[in-house]
Amino acid sequence: MNTFINAKDLGNLNVALKEALRIKKDRFSYKDLGRDKTLLMVFFNSSLRTRLSTQKAAMNLGMNTMILDINAGTWKLETERGVVMDADKPEHILEAIPVMGCYCDIIGVRSFAKLENKSDDYSENILKQFVQYSGKPVFSMEGATTHPLQSFADLITIEEFKTNSCPKVVLSWVPHPKSLPQAVPNSFADFMNEANINLVITHPEGYELDPKFVRKAPVEYDQMKAFRGADFVYAKNWSAFKDAYYGQILSEDHSWTIDIAKMNLTNNAKFMHCLPVRRNIVVTDEVIESSRSIVIQEAANREISSQTILKRMLETFKT
Ligand code: CP
Repeated sequence: MNTFINAKDLGNLNVALKEALRIKKDRFSYKDLGRDKTLLMVFFNSSLRTRLSTQKAAMNLGMNTMILDINAGTWKLETERGVVMDADKPEHILEAIPVMGCYCDIIGVRSFAKLENKSDDYSENILKQFVQYSGKPVFSMEGATTHPLQSFADLITIEEFKTNSCPKVVLSWVPHPKSLPQAVPNSFADFMNEANINLVITHPEGYELDPKFVRKAPVEYDQMKAFRGADFVYAKNWSAFKDAYYGQILSEDHSWTIDIAKMNLTNNAKFMHCLPVRRNIVVTDEVIESSRSIVIQEAANREISSQTILKRMLETFKT
């Protein structure tokens, strides 16, 4: 495996899922695979889970790890070609990336959408430049449009908690005071569709996601209706994707907050969220503290998700 950005990069998802569950049973069984290999994690944006879980996954595999926080102790990077660099950015990403590639064997990159220009964000320009110019295997630690490590962890979690072979999983838009990217819901839909999960998406009108990720998943504008019979509720806010409103907050409708009354409409559904989560806006204290909430187990599976990807990338050095 040389890149990991979308569900398809994993090949057969059932095979990947079985591999992840095997790793979870004995996460130190591959501790020689990463000996003398170095993972560089490059963060253009903040992180708690991705940073710790991916570092832990690399350590489980015997790797060395280096973390670079862009704009915190490094030179500010110019990312556009053709710019006269007379402002506050003394280094160009086109030199910085191959230099980073000299010091490591695998690179993880976090670079969020700026939500200013849809075609810029959806070009995944930063990730693509790392793929093109680093000379190393590259995986996304959340790009502008996808968060595959999160969604693979979500799929592992659903596999562990499901009580029937084809669970109904509802991806629900929820309110949020800040404008957020579509990366998590895009990837979630991508992985659920690829895994043949019974996915239903619910959001207020205007919040339609990129059809490339939604595919044939039904969209239900009535949240209560969508929740009926659900086995899992996956809450996430996102900003508008449509051209005219790209990156905007169209509604902060707090009637979409996940509360116990809504959870009681479901088939005793488990509550999921990628975290961090704003309590009593996205979900009530009562729901997130209840036995239905599996957000901590979900976050714990981030280690397994990352370890599966790193293991596959390390294995390519052996062939
Ligand atoms: N869910 C997730 O990616 O968390 P962090 O932003 O803390 O890494």
